[in-house]
Amino acid sequence: MTSVSVKDLRLSFGQVTVLDQLNLDIQEGEFLVLLGSSGCGKSTLLNCIAGLLDITDGQIFINGRNVTWDEPKDRGIGMVFQSYALYPQMTVEKNLSFGLKVAKLPQGEIDKRVARAAEILQIGPLLKRKPSELSGGQRQRVAIGRALVRDVDVFLFDEPLSNLDAKLRSELRVEIKRLHQSLKNTMIYVTHDQIEALTLADRIAIMKGGVIQQLADPNTIYNAPRNMFVAGFIGSPSMNFLKGEIATGADGKTVFVAGGVTFSLNGYRAGDPLLPGRKVVLGVRPEHVAVDEAAAGGELHEAVVDIEEPMGADNLLWLKHAGHTMAVRTAGSRRFRPGTKVRLSFDMSLASLFDAATEERI
Ligand SMILES: Nc1ncnc2c1ncn2[C@@H]1O[C@H](COP(=O)(O)OP(=O)(O)O)[C@@H](O)[C@H]1O
Ligand SMILES: [Mg+2]
Repeated sequence: MTSVSVKDLRLSFGQVTVLDQLNLDIQEGEFLVLLGSSGCGKSTLLNCIAGLLDITDGQIFINGRNVTWDEPKDRGIGMVFQSYALYPQMTVEKNLSFGLKVAKLPQGEIDKRVARAAEILQIGPLLKRKPSELSGGQRQRVAIGRALVRDVDVFLFDEPLSNLDAKLRSELRVEIKRLHQSLKNTMIYVTHDQIEALTLADRIAIMKGGVIQQLADPNTIYNAPRNMFVAGFIGSPSMNFLKGEIATGADGKTVFVAGGVTFSLNGYRAGDPLLPGRKVVLGVRPEHVAVDEAAAGGELHEAVVDIEEPMGADNLLWLKHAGHTMAVRTAGSRRFRPGTKVRLSFDMSLASLFDAATEERI
């Protein structure tokens, strides 16, 4: 069943239209991540769903109900922001129960819900403290707890981990995933962090300039990006791009040629015909290039190690190849001196080809 449905949404701030003709269906129990760089319209979209912004045109449905003109509190949603927005003068317990008291729930029910949220989020020992006596991670847990006690159908998160340091962020990320696995609520989660998106999402909607560029599961987004923007946004370091064109090789097979170097396209599944002369961009992820060995029938290309960045588990090489700089990921145990000549082979079954003009996947 569809849990949240956004239909032909338009949102303008005065003369400036941020979202236009935006459509998005989120399934019940789905963890959907809105991913994109700062200013692309993620929070605006989330705030439209929450009812914190009056939309200019279109409709919003939650659990089949048209909530376009409903107040935020009547939409069955709970929201968690980057800034925890806790009441500083209240204890954790009061922060959790305040909204329920205002809604005039019986005290027994309030106590039950607060106890359950405290247990799920492991903040029981903190209930008597004030926010100023908590760490950032603990405050964010309380903020999540405040959405949890409301017993809502849909959780909306707006960059909830952005204020935390790297270690806490990865810990709380796992807890949010565990929370979703046990509650099975619909969750819409805004982030600019591709790792959060890849690790948490059932599906990622990747946005640019207010437009959803691709909506798919993380594996599809990573391995079959729809355009060069998506391809370049996801993955660190970024996918290598080589500009060139389609040609016919000596054996009559279709090849890709860049800077005088020929690449076999064996194993690439194109959605479009690869006509000789077509200007294209080849995209290869750093881990899909093998160094000093032949992968999946690809041929060997000479390259020179420029920089080596050992990262423990793996070793990132920056190579000079056919006039380009190319990033290649190898095993951490393999070390290379700058200036070393190596031979590369490319796994074309995992590569991407884009039209040079439209930047769309071929
Ligand atoms: N209240 C506002 N008035 C005018 N422009 C706004 C307002 N809020 C956001 N914007 C603009 O809308 C665009 C999208 O903003 P936002 O949704 O906050 O981006 P994100 O959350 O992806 O970083 C930005 O260009 C921003 O400047
Ligand atoms: Mg934002």
